[in-house]
Amino acid sequence: MKLSAFLLTMAASLAVSDLAHSQQPIVIRFSHVVAPDTPKGRGAEKFKELAHKYTNGRVSVEVYPSSRLYRDIEEFEALRAGWVEMLAPSLSKLGLLGVPEFQVFDLPYLFPDKQALYRVMDGDLGQGLLKKLEPKGVLGLAYWDNGFKQMSANRPLRNVDDFKGLKMRVQAGSRVLESQMRALGAKPVVLPFAEAFPALKQGTVQGTENPVSNFYAERMHQVQKHLTISDHGYLGYAVLVNRKFWEGLPGEVRAGLDRAMKEATVYERESAQKINDDALAAVRRAGTTEIDVLPPEQRAAWSKALEKVRKDSEARIGPEVMRRVREIAVQPGEKQSVVK
Ligand code: LMR
Repeated sequence: MKLSAFLLTMAASLAVSDLAHSQQPIVIRFSHVVAPDTPKGRGAEKFKELAHKYTNGRVSVEVYPSSRLYRDIEEFEALRAGWVEMLAPSLSKLGLLGVPEFQVFDLPYLFPDKQALYRVMDGDLGQGLLKKLEPKGVLGLAYWDNGFKQMSANRPLRNVDDFKGLKMRVQAGSRVLESQMRALGAKPVVLPFAEAFPALKQGTVQGTENPVSNFYAERMHQVQKHLTISDHGYLGYAVLVNRKFWEGLPGEVRAGLDRAMKEATVYERESAQKINDDALAAVRRAGTTEIDVLPPEQRAAWSKALEKVRKDSEARIGPEVMRRVREIAVQPGEKQSVVK
């Protein structure tokens, strides 16, 4: 544990008080792993601003970005122990909390667009998945967006064969992401987000996947010569809060925070696409990374190679969740081009 995290832990244990009866400012420590200038980073800042406004200054949100306090796995431990109150891990990482169903969001070429994702997240299915976190001492307040992921490496990634033998960094907690890299012929290497850039720089892994917002904010374009716009998978987040903390808040404070979270979620989702578009333009301007847009025939070949992942993951995710997601993701009349 880093020293700053240790000091917070000490402070938390000294500051156990009955929030419902205290007029002390209520502090929400919101820890996350990405840079401030990303969809999640900006969403966290928006929530901070709105939480202050809608609770008349009673709540102060402290945002700790860029794994300043905790890295991927440690942050779950910190949330459950009450060393921080809020996180927004990727849905992929929720496997670390023992809810494998969230990996449905990792399935390659399953969701045709963001609207399909929002239908799943905001409907009964997505809300039901968040409920599964409650026995773990965690409440899921909202789904936040980043965007579709792209592949990068130090060689062009156009045909499935181009992946052969590459070590590709993937996120912790998702067997689907590991299977995806294997199905393409690459070797998945699980690393915390904070270690992705150093590993790419040192060459211990040769490639990775992420939306361009994370790719650019982490300066991966300085160490990756090729980026393929493949939109092969999705990266989204669940905003989580320590359940005991949340349920111990005075009702009017919680109402203010609910309102702040609702508005921050709208803002976060609306900003995500633009942040990714701006990041892509910035990577282009930097001139260090060649950008390929995957043409439809190659996209179809990638999707075919990944069909096995969609099929094999059925048992882990649960056939009922898979069936409902397929039903919700593809609306009648929509072209079912990549959803098998
Ligand atoms: C990653 O580890 O690649 C992402 O989940 C980071 C993030 O939170 O966007």
